[in-house]
Amino acid sequence: MHKITIAIDGYSSTGKSTVAKQLADWLAYVYVDTGAMYRAVTLFAMQNNMVAEGKVHTSKLIAALPNIQLEFRKKGADTAEIHLNGENVEKDIRHLSVSEYVSPVATISEVRRKLVEQQKKMGEGKGVVMDGRDIGTVVFPNAELKIFMTASAQQRAERRYKELLAHGDTVTYQEVLENVQERDHIDTTREDSPLRKAEDAIEIDNSDMNLEDQFHTILQLAKDRIAGRV
Ligand code: DC
Repeated sequence: MHKITIAIDGYSSTGKSTVAKQLADWLAYVYVDTGAMYRAVTLFAMQNNMVAEGKVHTSKLIAALPNIQLEFRKKGADTAEIHLNGENVEKDIRHLSVSEYVSPVATISEVRRKLVEQQKKMGEGKGVVMDGRDIGTVVFPNAELKIFMTASAQQRAERRYKELLAHGDTVTYQEVLENVQERDHIDTTREDSPLRKAEDAIEIDNSDMNLEDQFHTILQLAKDRIAGRV
């Protein structure tokens, strides 16, 4: 069957990865979580003393980029976990401490260039669902289907807070809300590849949508594109 490229962008904690994974499973496509790549680079910077007091040591990190190797390795039939220089860091990259540094790291053009190049290669054969902030605008401007997900900051913080608690993190709702708002600000105002809706993207506000409705809405859009109906 004709394969397409699906780009899912949007604000943090809008549930992009949940719907991207569901779609990839259903269509038997490859799912790529590009946020995990920015998070893994951030973890590397943290492990190598390149961050302190909310600031990233940009020149040190840029110099170390050739030493960072990222790879998604399959776990079971339909999940892949990110490995940083051969080590599985899928869990470590989800902590709030990483979330606090990831947006500044993602403003660094050299970091973006390295990751975007790898992302383009991963999508070469089509049949890919990729989620992030710049997939429809920079990584795959010709993607057949582009989705832009939004929801209120409070809704997103609430979802993230529950997830973090479930993982045993000790955080307050207020801390999570502030992090969500801070990341929105940095992601939308950075100079290189700011988060914005591509002109031809379809916006989905899922503040009041359940997961099932959201999945079926987007799946229908994908089916139409695959069948060449739109
Ligand atoms: O999707 P996420 O919350 O795991 O992403 C973490 C951060 O990485 C987010 O604050 C912005 C950055 N990011 C980006 O700049 N470009 C992408 N394609 C994906 C993520």
